[in-house]
Amino acid sequence: MTQQATGSTSAPAAQQPAPGAAANREQVVAAAIREISHIATLPEITLKIVELVESPKSTAQDLNKIISADPALSSRILKVVNSSFYGLPGQIASINRAIVMLGLNAVKNIAIAASLAKLFRGGELTANFSAKHLWTHCNAVAVGSKMLADSLRLGLADEAFLAGLMHDIGIMVEMQFDRAKLIEVLQKAGADSKGVPANDWLKAEDETFGANHQDFGIALCEKWRFPKPFVYATGFHHRPLELPNEARTIASIVYVADRMAAMLEGGFRQDLLVTDIGADVCEQIKLDQIKLDAIRKILPDEVKNANAMLA
Ligand SMILES: [Fe+2]
Ligand SMILES: [Fe+2]
Repeated sequence: MTQQATGSTSAPAAQQPAPGAAANREQVVAAAIREISHIATLPEITLKIVELVESPKSTAQDLNKIISADPALSSRILKVVNSSFYGLPGQIASINRAIVMLGLNAVKNIAIAASLAKLFRGGELTANFSAKHLWTHCNAVAVGSKMLADSLRLGLADEAFLAGLMHDIGIMVEMQFDRAKLIEVLQKAGADSKGVPANDWLKAEDETFGANHQDFGIALCEKWRFPKPFVYATGFHHRPLELPNEARTIASIVYVADRMAAMLEGGFRQDLLVTDIGADVCEQIKLDQIKLDAIRKILPDEVKNANAMLA
């Protein structure tokens, strides 16, 4: 396949045709990430956990040791694993037990989710947009992504959940980098009373920032040294089929979940001009209409459950 996965060279031809546009985009993104690096930090412990779980030599004991040294994180994880979301309400009293029951990966994801929540701060920018609204949307996309991965029996449910949770983090980079510009994007995209945009959000971002939230998302995931699937999900959730074939799965799942979540009552959908789910993307992940309808039906309840857990 072709090498299209960097995401930094795909400026829409219409608005930045000049040679060097891609270089400008890279500069803008690098400047933003530099500028916000004091805010957009994951706690050291979270980065340690990511590193540890990625290492093939790590054991449950190693993870237990790191988490148990942080009482706040420990209690947070126990609260989550004992919620109805994991189907084991009130049964898990120790981190060790949580790791045994849910696995290293799931516990890692809970720890990361707990740290990510703190990044979605900054109040309300317009009547249609607040960091909290975006976080609620990201939770819904996470839940939908997990359900899709489960339904497709891909063994990627934990990864899909976290990818969904992170997918629009580029918008938070924009918010922390330059609030005034994000307000400009919101105004350019426009929205009716239901939050349905009038104009293309990504185009408005490209015009205003010189880059869009997918570019910022890629850069943040790379800065945090997150595994590739998260780079793909944040950077390609609006265009998963631009990735090489072997890298499309998680980004495609998040693409579908994003559109389903946008259709929920009160769901954030400013960056989606249309919420149709492309048949080509469904084909890519072998998602048929029956599975899709089944998930759509129970998604609202599952999201409510998860909101109670991640709030
Ligand atoms: Fe998005
Ligand atoms: Fe989204």
